[in-house]
Order: sequence, then structure tokens, then C-alpha cells
Amino acid sequence: MRVHVADHPLIAHKLTRLRDDRTDSPTFRRLADELVTLLAYEATREVRVQECEVVTPVATTRGVELATPKPLVVPILRAGLGMLDGMVRLLPTAEVGFLGMVRNEETLEAHTYANRLPADLDRRQCYVVDPMLATGGTLVDAVRYLVDLGADDITAIVLIAAPEGIARVEEALADLQVPVTLVTGAIDERLDENGYIVPGLGDAGDRLYGVV
Ligand code: URA
Repeated sequence: MRVHVADHPLIAHKLTRLRDDRTDSPTFRRLADELVTLLAYEATREVRVQECEVVTPVATTRGVELATPKPLVVPILRAGLGMLDGMVRLLPTAEVGFLGMVRNEETLEAHTYANRLPADLDRRQCYVVDPMLATGGTLVDAVRYLVDLGADDITAIVLIAAPEGIARVEEALADLQVPVTLVTGAIDERLDENGYIVPGLGDAGDRLYGVV
């Protein structure tokens, strides 16, 4: 897996505000939205385009447009929804599929409870969005799921990743023939005994949408 840490002072500034436990939900949502737009700019550096012709008021010239099939954005419910708007603002013609995954807080394993994806992802570039890469179980399952449906290039965009999660994804997907890229705003110190990222930002879903 290719790992890219988006090293930019604006990203670091917004992440610091996001981590702050005094940041309320509306501000948290706005910051997550702004961050994903900045991360997505990096993450889409290799989005596929095809040549096209464009007529300007002055002349006809060559340009590019997003290639077909269009990229697929896949937010992991529920926290990934907080990153969806920022993604589709940058890729307005992308399609969106949903994966509902929840972590069993005892085993820390991911369980899929909902799936709204196109049946055929043949030759699709997929952008998986989920704020936290913690144990890595969710991302491993999501990537395998998308590859089984035909996706041939996967980029995961997260706000914060844990070293343990990155190592697990790398190990679990070592045999995969499909390129996987991780774009993250930061790599934190470690996971705690409850599977939370330290220092992290707490439970991203709760901070976006309230405690359930
Ligand atoms: N999920 C979260 O929302 N936060 C963590 O720190 C780990 C997993």
C-alpha cells in the first residue's frame, strides 16, 4: 500500500482544531468537510481522465474530462458521511456507494450491516472515505469487498491513521493485485486498549453527529 501523509500547514491547523475536545459538532463538521477537500486534492492526483475537445469563445482546443466509468466515492457509514460532501464537491460527476460497517467494541472486528453499491465495479477507481484508520479491520474488509466487485484501483482517505492500523492493512492486503493508496492528514502515536487512536480526536461519529 502506498501511504501519503498530506503534510500541509493548513491541514495541520484544521486537524488541531478538530482534535480539541472543546470543538462543538457544527464546527467539527465544517472542519472535517474542509479537511476532506484538501486531502481529496492530493488523493485525486491520479484520477483517470480522457481527452476531449472544448470550444472556447476564441478557438477549439483539447482538454480532459473525467474518464468513464466515473470514479466511485464510498463513505463508510456512519462517520464517513461527514466526508462525503467535501469529496463530491471536488468530484461532482462521481457516483456514490455506501458501506455500513460497525466495529464490535469487544473484539474490535468490523461487521458489515448495510451495502448500497453498484453490482459491477468493473475497472472502477474507488475512493473510500472514513475519518479514522484505527485497527484497520474496516478498511481491509471494505477494500476486499470493492475488489471482489471488480474495482481496480482504490484510494482510502482518512483524517487520522494509527501505525497499528496501517501495518494491519499492509499485511492483510499484501497479496492483492489491485493498487491501494492511503492518504491521511496525520499518523498518530498508537492505539489504546479500547482501539481508540492516541491522541486522536475521540469517536469521530459521535463528534460529528452526537452520541448513539
Ligand atoms: N474510531 C473513532 O471514531 N475514533 C478512534 O479513535 C478509533 C476508531
